[in-house]
Amino acid sequence: MKKNKTESLTAEKGLFTIALTLNGRPAEFRVKPNEFLLDALRAHGWKGTKKGCDTGDCGSCAVMFNGKPELACMIPAVTAHGSVVGTIEGVGTVDRPHPIQEAFVEAGGVQCGFCIPGMVISAKHLLENVPDPSEAEIKKALDGNLCRCTGYVKQIEAVKIASKKLRTRRASK
Ligand code: FES
Ligand code: FES
Repeated sequence: MKKNKTESLTAEKGLFTIALTLNGRPAEFRVKPNEFLLDALRAHGWKGTKKGCDTGDCGSCAVMFNGKPELACMIPAVTAHGSVVGTIEGVGTVDRPHPIQEAFVEAGGVQCGFCIPGMVISAKHLLENVPDPSEAEIKKALDGNLCRCTGYVKQIEAVKIASKKLRTRRASK
């Protein structure tokens, strides 16, 4: 029987070495057998991915995992061996923000900011697949991302602004 990628891992002093593609570059993490991807990312300096509930309920830990937004607090780190992961650090930076990040700021959708990385990951995936989404589609895409500060109105507005920005950018190319 063919082995899956995780079965090929062996522990050394209780830690497994996993290799993954992180934000477009090869990365290696040493992880405990019971560690989750969220903690592994943060322990290796990728702290843009936020730890909210740690129980799969708030969406603040959303990352791109093999092409889809997933909750990093629910992904056993060893299963990320051989995977392609994208975090908020790969979307944009303070100096070079992504148009979606600009739109969140412009719309006033950022208060404490804790939910924003996860929301941006969800919004980016939506806009890559549905460039001009309806409000219902935006609400559905952000459904798993909880925000304690806002009423979501400005964040929905932000995704509409981002959609326009990205479509304008595409049209001008
Ligand atoms: S920290 Fe993962 S869903 Fe809340
Ligand atoms: S802006 Fe504070 S949790 Fe969303």
